[in-house]
Amino acid sequence: MDQEIKHKLTEWRQAVRYHLDHPKFAKEPAYLYEPMHYALSGEGKMLRSALCLAAAEAVGGKWQDAVQVGVALEIFHTFSLVHDDIMDGDDLRRGIPTVHKAYDSASALLSGDTLLIYVYQLLTEIDSPKSLRLLNAFNSGAMDVCIGQGWDMQFEVDAHVEPRQYEMMIDLKTGALIKLACEMGGIVGGGDDDAVNALARFGLLLGRAFQMQDDLLEVTSSAETMGKSLGSDMLNEKKTWIWLDLKQNLSTPELEQWKQIQDTGQLSEEDRDQIRTWMMDHGTIKRAQNMVQDWIVEADKILTGSYFKSTTMLETLAEIILKRQS
Ligand code: IPE
Ligand code: IPE
Ligand code: MG
Ligand code: MG
Repeated sequence: MDQEIKHKLTEWRQAVRYHLDHPKFAKEPAYLYEPMHYALSGEGKMLRSALCLAAAEAVGGKWQDAVQVGVALEIFHTFSLVHDDIMDGDDLRRGIPTVHKAYDSASALLSGDTLLIYVYQLLTEIDSPKSLRLLNAFNSGAMDVCIGQGWDMQFEVDAHVEPRQYEMMIDLKTGALIKLACEMGGIVGGGDDDAVNALARFGLLLGRAFQMQDDLLEVTSSAETMGKSLGSDMLNEKKTWIWLDLKQNLSTPELEQWKQIQDTGQLSEEDRDQIRTWMMDHGTIKRAQNMVQDWIVEADKILTGSYFKSTTMLETLAEIILKRQS
């Protein structure tokens, strides 16, 4: 990656990190504030804030003007992960124990809720003629994320889920926030309606690719590399695309073997190796990788629109998503 781009990403990360390390909340009661600080201390990739700042620049705005929105988006994202980890029963996030493991579920629920309220405080602080538009966009995107989480959980108990339903679900639970980051960046950057709509479409495609990639990495990567628990997708019977695809292709004895693994309620390294091998042998991984690639190519095409002034950073972030291993 170009040195200048690398430097810029570091500068953006530091600007957002500063606010995550110095949130404007009190110290007491420790029951509430400690887990909130703890949740924000985890080192995430900060993809959503980077996209927000890059989108502001793409329409000719200054990235500095988008930092407060970027911070709000990162904190919303963290809130959603605190609750998601309770919902998925996961123990590790961003290389450290999840909030409900480090504390307990009651404090994880309260601190997650309070982080969400803090996000609203940050957004309503923005004193600009655009603030109501930003807030409306946020409400709509945040609602979509929760609906997506609802579908994700619903599909755990639904016996049959179609691939197009999976796409609808990931567009909501993950696509909506990545779309929102691009959209809100476009709004603070002063983009016109065409530009903001194009950024929203770009973000949605990127978000879809990001989640498919994430589902793939759950099988192909390791908890150490990813910094989070892996395997809960399979044990919780999450209806991910790769899983729907694999199940269609498994032979009767293979399906039998999978049922036996599932009955143990645990996924050993050998079990994960077995699933990875099945996914490679039956072509699932290749098909999913092709879909990720196609969505990113489609997203990149949007960036050729004449309303954009500079798309280098957005293109770089799309490439990072395509190539990411963690
Ligand atoms: C995790 O998102 C949740 C998903 C949508 C898969 P990230 O992978 O962006 O998480 P952090 O912010 O880097 O921890
Ligand atoms: C996370 O989805 C999406 C939201 C929190 C809205 P996942 O449950 O698939 O993500 P990971 O694997 O826990 O990061
Ligand atoms: Mg999860
Ligand atoms: Mg989940």
